[in-house]
Amino acid sequence: MKAAVMHEFGDFDVLKYEDIATPEPKSGHVLVKVLAAGVNRLDHYLREGSVTRDIPLPHILGADAVGEVAELGPGVSGLKAGDKVIVVPGFPLKEAEKDIYPAVTAPSFALPGLGIWGGYAQYIEVPARSVVKDETGLAPERLATLPVVLATAVRSVKKVARVEAGDKVLVQAGASGSGSMLIQVAKALGAEVATTVRGAAKAEFVESLGVDLVIDTRKADFVERIKEWTGGKGADVVIDNLGGEVLAKSIDAVKPLGVVVAFGFAAGAEVGFDIRSLFFAQKQLKGSMASDVADLEWGLEQLRAGRIEAVLDRALPLSDAAQAHRLIAANQVKGNIVLLPWAA
Ligand SMILES: NC(=O)c1ccc[n+]([C@@H]2O[C@H](COP(=O)([O-])OP(=O)(O)OC[C@H]3O[C@@H](n4cnc5c(N)ncnc54)[C@H](OP(=O)(O)O)[C@@H]3O)[C@@H](O)[C@H]2O)c1
Repeated sequence: MKAAVMHEFGDFDVLKYEDIATPEPKSGHVLVKVLAAGVNRLDHYLREGSVTRDIPLPHILGADAVGEVAELGPGVSGLKAGDKVIVVPGFPLKEAEKDIYPAVTAPSFALPGLGIWGGYAQYIEVPARSVVKDETGLAPERLATLPVVLATAVRSVKKVARVEAGDKVLVQAGASGSGSMLIQVAKALGAEVATTVRGAAKAEFVESLGVDLVIDTRKADFVERIKEWTGGKGADVVIDNLGGEVLAKSIDAVKPLGVVVAFGFAAGAEVGFDIRSLFFAQKQLKGSMASDVADLEWGLEQLRAGRIEAVLDRALPLSDAAQAHRLIAANQVKGNIVLLPWAA
């Protein structure tokens, strides 16, 4: 099969488009023909080797894979060749750990592309229990934008932050892959949503997602704007996918007793803040990472009900995987990029 294979960690061009043996489905597993594979910022970190180098090489990235069942391994029931499926973006590899909740705490937890080979290939081999049937009717390139960002947005907004109708929520970097979905999940729950961007093009883009307040941080201080928007109180919830120096300000932007969810670190993994800004007003700082199958399923229900849309930046042939990573690193993506393993 064709795949974008990594033989070493490093710059964009370590992603080599080449032939590699097609995996055979093990017992209890399925081989999925990948019709489209989403690209996330995580893939860029993994390629660089900046998050972990504990990955056997050669390796295939890609946490988001959608397609159709090509072959069943021994002992698989409930699926047949040709079924349209979405690979769940994260699951325990060991059968004995399949019911551990949250799944990310299972010792054998893996994502396609981290722990096992991922979706930047014409085929992916995964446990049969880690696929869900696709009933969305979406084209593969739109569907492949969804799994990671949709499921993790549901996890953080609904389960971790417990956003409710009428809440005022700030989502950082709303034009990002994660941000564009965090906004939509908060809106689906009935919240009013503010978001930050840098620059006019991304401001215009997030308007199209139905946000209530757009803050261009090149022109305005987001803490001040959130205070104005909330009558001086602060937001009920901030979902922070940026970290770095932004997280300290996210804490300032939330109301007393409010919740800040640490979700990512696009602006930096090291965070410094005055602890008094958190505990004096009894604010809560919570972490959210990955998702469970139920999060993905709830998100897909919202999509089918028309409350959430896939946000496709562009689809590129799999041979352009390095270019997709360049665009992510240069912050030039709105929503998600998708790779097409069968495009010429
Ligand atoms: N917890 C989870 O389960 C989970 C799930 C998905 C993603 N994440 C994390 O969330 C973060 C974002 O991921 P993503 O896939 O959404 O990224 P993305 O689509 O590549 O977007 C990241 C955006 O962050 C903004 N940005 C980058 N550097 C910045 C800086 N120094 N200051 C302010 N803004 C900056 C840029 O938007 P502007 O140009 O508009 O400012 C950029 O487009 C990553 O750390 C990722 O690992 C976590």
